[in-house]
Amino acid sequence: EKGGYEHFMLKEIFEQPRSILDSMRGRLELDGGHLNMAGFRAYEQKFVNAHRIIIVACGTSWHAGLVAEYLIEDLARIPVEVEYASEFRYRNPVISERDIVIAISQSGETADTLAALELAKSKGATIFGICNVVGSSIARATDAGAYTHAGPEIGVASTKAFTAQVTVLVLLAMSIGQRRGTLSETKVRELMAELHSIPAKVEKALKLDAEIQVIAETFKDVPNFLYLGRGYNFPVALEGALKLKEISYIHAEGYPAAEMKHGPIALIDENMPVVVIATRDSSYEKVVSNIQEVKARKGRIIAVVTEGDTTIPAMAEFVIEVPPTSEVLTPLVSVIPLQLLSYHIAVLRGCNVDQPRNLAKSVTVE
Ligand code: F6R
Repeated sequence: EKGGYEHFMLKEIFEQPRSILDSMRGRLELDGGHLNMAGFRAYEQKFVNAHRIIIVACGTSWHAGLVAEYLIEDLARIPVEVEYASEFRYRNPVISERDIVIAISQSGETADTLAALELAKSKGATIFGICNVVGSSIARATDAGAYTHAGPEIGVASTKAFTAQVTVLVLLAMSIGQRRGTLSETKVRELMAELHSIPAKVEKALKLDAEIQVIAETFKDVPNFLYLGRGYNFPVALEGALKLKEISYIHAEGYPAAEMKHGPIALIDENMPVVVIATRDSSYEKVVSNIQEVKARKGRIIAVVTEGDTTIPAMAEFVIEVPPTSEVLTPLVSVIPLQLLSYHIAVLRGCNVDQPRNLAKSVTVE
């Protein structure tokens, strides 16, 4: 059942080229430049006229929501707010009929996410769901939606569901942008072709496994980790930190790299591993300066960079090279080594990676 892998989590990490493909299958018509999102089509006008999109989710799904904030604002030019479902539902939020609420949930059973969408529905908002489990409570409570086709996720730590969510959110942001005219046809075709090449790039990133095991050996006994990223890689930093803390029980924090100097920089000394996601994108130069700030304080840098980077290897203790892709698709590739890193550290520490202590696969109580 684990397909020869030692744990479900590892199997699911390695399934991602396939699960990402499954999540875009039938939705991407490369020939005609068409995007085929059935659930979107029925509510196309609502999306075109939306004043605002509010995303509600928890945990890893909330991180996918943060990626969507960048995606939808970039590609479709609609303001987006990303909310922890548990906070949103209790704070008397301002919601109108012109709002669209997107609920993201792997299980489709998360109690807070369900309650948040019910609240928004009662105020007249249109509810769009992105769930993995077909027929789940959240899927049933929405007006429309798009399933992720990641297949069953057994490991408690979410991996392939995250990349499937991001894939669907890319398709959704592109569909809205195409309909609103904020995304040119040339750009649509370019992104479609790039999206199509993602499974092969993820496959390539998975080949880093052996290198990452060495890094895991080096850092398996540290008490803390810091993860930094900017732009599309900021949510990836949060996700990397969450993966590590939930399965290895090492304390880890994810931060937008520029926020470091507003506090966390005080933590940096020669014992602090800092994972910096520093791929070649519009924030690259700024992230390089952030790496210099860490280096000046003797932090131990583990950098995720784009293949062929010549600047960062001179500054980092470990460099992990991932294939280049379009900036908006970066999280799909850059999250892979972070999933592997947390997996290997947890295994080396003797932790139960598939069923970490205190955690459940679906959180059906608030
Ligand atoms: C992280 C993790 C949790 C879930 C969260 C939301 O690896 O598993 O943080 O992401 O409980 O669950 P869903 O997506 O089922 O609503």
